[in-house]
Order: sequence, then C-alpha cells, then structure tokens
Amino acid sequence: MKKIILDMDVGIDDTLAIAYLLAHRDVELIGITTVFGNVKTETSLKNSLAVLELFGREDVPVFLGNTCVLTSDTAFIPHEIAYRIHGQNGIGNLELPEPKRSAESMPAVDFILESAQKYGEDLILIPTGPLTNIAQAILRDEEAMKGIGNITFMGGALTVQGNVTPYAEANIYADPEAAKVVLESEVSTTMVGLDVTLRAHIGNDAIRSWGDLNSRKSQIINAMAKYYFTFEYNDPDNLGGAIHDPLAVEAALHPESIRQFLPINLTVETQGPTRGRTVSTMEKLREKKTRTQVCLNLDGETFVKRFADTIREIIR
Ligand code: BDR
Ligand code: CA
Repeated sequence: MKKIILDMDVGIDDTLAIAYLLAHRDVELIGITTVFGNVKTETSLKNSLAVLELFGREDVPVFLGNTCVLTSDTAFIPHEIAYRIHGQNGIGNLELPEPKRSAESMPAVDFILESAQKYGEDLILIPTGPLTNIAQAILRDEEAMKGIGNITFMGGALTVQGNVTPYAEANIYADPEAAKVVLESEVSTTMVGLDVTLRAHIGNDAIRSWGDLNSRKSQIINAMAKYYFTFEYNDPDNLGGAIHDPLAVEAALHPESIRQFLPINLTVETQGPTRGRTVSTMEKLREKKTRTQVCLNLDGETFVKRFADTIREIIR
C-alpha cells in the first residue's frame, strides 16, 4: 500500500485535498506535515488537527514544520490576499472545536526523512504549500529523498501566467529558494501547477450539492467552499472556480486524469521581477535523466466529477 505524506499550509483547498485523500482507502495517509503560506505554520497545524478530527481520523499524526523561509530566521507573515481568500484562520473564519490532540514532538523534516528511509519508493509526498520542509529534507539527506516514489506538488506555472505576479504562482513565490532546491535536486517530482489547476473548474451545482446533505461535515465543508469560491472569484451567485490542491492528490493517485506530461528539468528564478517563476534549466538533456514531469493538460471533466462525488460521499 502506498504511503502518503501531505505537506500543507491549511487553507481551504488544502482542507478539500485532505478530505479527498481520506476518501481513498487504498492508500495510507501516514502523516500531515505543516508549513506556512495561506496561514502561519502553527495555524496550519491547528487546522490539520481540527480537520482530521472532523473526519474522525485522529489516528493520523500531525507535525510542526518550518515557520520561516529557507533563507531567513524571521517567521513568515502570510499575505493579506491569502487571508482574504482563506479567512483569517485559514478555514473561512469558521469556528471548529479546539483540537483534542496536539502535534507530535518530532519535527516535520525528521518525520519526512524517517519515512523516506522506512518506505523508500512506496512513499509519495504531496506538498500543497511552499516547499520549505521538502527542501530542508533534501538538503539534509538527498540520498534518502532520491529513494522515495515521487514528490507530487501543487505549485508553479510554466505555460500560463502566475497568480501572485505575472510570473509566479503563490506556493513557489512564498519561498522560491526552497522550490529551487527541490527542483534542482535529483528527486523525482511532478508539478501540478496553474497550467492544469486552472482547467479543473468546479461549478455552482457541485458545491451547492455538498450543502444539501444534513451532516455536520457537509455544513462545514460547504460553508468553507462557499467562502473560498466567493472571495477567490468574487461572484457569490455563481460559485465556482479552480480546485488547486486536490488536483495534486488526483495526479498522485489517478495519473490517468492527466492528459499530458512534459518531462523537463526545471529551476526557479530568484532575482528581480520574475522571482518565483518556474523555468526550464535549458540543460542539454541527451545524457541526463529528466527530473520533473509537468502536468500540462487534464481530463478536467472526469476529475471534477470524481472529486465532487467523492467529497459528497465522505461528508454524508
Ligand atoms: C495555491 O496557493 C494557495 O492559496 C492554495 O492553497 C494553493 O495551494 C494556489 O496558487
Ligand atoms: Ca495550499
């Protein structure tokens, strides 16, 4: 059975990615490691615990990750826009009960490395926030990280515009130096960037159908989704929009939904106005193995239907 670690800045679409993953009983979520981005790392941790509790999955351990970007010792401050899209508390300003559990005492990066050594190619990392924890794991033990199955991350934009600057996507922009370490390493990665997430469009009916169920889970998930799609896309009467983070779960578990992969070696620009842009290294590839598969196109209809139906089932 594949072992999965979600590395996240929880976040409303991160929450939907947790729910989507939990519905897949043929893989094992062995832990959630937390990072800053949409919120501070401590808030991501609290949200992870609360969301797991909502789904009755207190068996999944949660780990505190980095609070600062790779090249700084100052705690990351989330951008005002992130607070607007995900709410001040990251989960649409909904009040979930105070989690009964706390984080594991082991730091997130130690857990990632321990799991890499233990599970090797059966381990898949799915980061849906800045890549700081993953970069640190690679800097500490690239050999162990090279042995894992894949890092399937949501982030980047290769063929389309960014969403925080014309060049950069939010997760990469938050810590470009970390993303550069990950992409330039020899670890196999799959990039689920805006190239495909912007084609994964969920509509009004699917979101509203989650709210028709009478369970507590459905009320909460529906309210979060409404908040997110209202503030992300500014049209409360016609809710809908791109589903970023759950598509990384899809690419890891149902790669057949991705219609086109581009094998390429990538790096990240860290200077000037293009800071945070994911670009080709322009290497001569003849003798080199390509490290990254960029998802370029997808069967959006199949994914969105599977996603909407699966969420509906798990919140019933
Ligand atoms: C990414 O940024 C965050 O707001 C989302 O959670 C997603 O991971 C999209 O650019
Ligand atoms: Ca995220």
